[in-house]
Amino acid sequence: MKLTLSALLLLAVLPAGAAVNFRTQVWPILAKSCVDCHRAPHKDSAGKMVEPKGRLRLDGAGSIMKGGADGDAVVAGDPDKSSVYQRILLPPDHEDVMPPKDKGKLLGFDDSELIKQWIIEGASFGDWKGADDGAGAAVVKKPAKAADPLAAGAGPAPEAAKEAVRKLGALVTSVVTDSPLLRVEWVSGASMVTDKEITTLLPIAGNISELDLSDTKITDEALTTIGKFPRLTWLNLNNTAITDAGVAHLKTLTNLSYLNLHSTNVSDTALTSLTPLRKLRQVYLWKTRVTPASATKFAKSIPDLNVTLE
Ligand code: HEC
Repeated sequence: MKLTLSALLLLAVLPAGAAVNFRTQVWPILAKSCVDCHRAPHKDSAGKMVEPKGRLRLDGAGSIMKGGADGDAVVAGDPDKSSVYQRILLPPDHEDVMPPKDKGKLLGFDDSELIKQWIIEGASFGDWKGADDGAGAAVVKKPAKAADPLAAGAGPAPEAAKEAVRKLGALVTSVVTDSPLLRVEWVSGASMVTDKEITTLLPIAGNISELDLSDTKITDEALTTIGKFPRLTWLNLNNTAITDAGVAHLKTLTNLSYLNLHSTNVSDTALTSLTPLRKLRQVYLWKTRVTPASATKFAKSIPDLNVTLE
């Protein structure tokens, strides 16, 4: 096997044989270096509407594949045709380089190689969806203010409360433009998040519909707080120290449809707490103590439920 220099360097960056994971490897790079300028239209601190630069949004899988003013941003399998990759490769003083000259630190070699490798491998987003109003909204025009029954009764989240959560390093975004429903995730610094930080979410408990706590330092204690989030539909607890006792606090989350318990210590007991959650459609149980027999039984106990054990 002949390896080019860049392939050799890449091997140093990637664990042998592992495919690049968008959510854990590529998204943190985009979130940190690109999304500020390339995200859903939003108001700035002066109340002025800010549109995504170059009409390109990089905050959702659909929008990334939709591209921007100049067309495709990512062409699966072809980094040379993917402007996302081409723009980060430009020399630092080039007028088209991203992030723009003097507007942010250029990506390091490892980061750009990861993005390139992700494109070569087919630009898969795995279970990551991000903001889902981008491409969808443009292609399938959603009826204006399509009544999301879940949003009914939810007032807008107080700005100060959202700001307090952002100060903890979280990315707080509307799940759909103008929706009071929020997605909260830690794209970097997840390891600094403990049960204490989770209590800061309480003032916006009625607004949070998607919550990504993967790789954080939370314990069962945090789940007593999260059990009070009435509009939660999507919860990722991958690689946290939670146990069956904590999962028991989730039985109040009747809107939950996605639950990721991958790489946790939960066992068959946790599944009994989840059976009342009739809207569950996807539960990830890979690298847990759940037995195949219980997983199968659980999958059959709720209509249309998909359970992934491995
Ligand atoms: C400080 C704001 C800012 C940041 C940060 C930023 N961009 Fe941009 N981006 C722009 C502006 C302004 C344009 C439109 C002008 C242009 O095309 O150069 C643009 C355009 C683009 C385009 C072309 C879109 C099209 O179809 O016309 C791509 C691709 C792009 N950016 C990728 C990125 C990537 C990848 C990152 C992160 C590594 C990034 N940008 C970070 C401001 C930014």
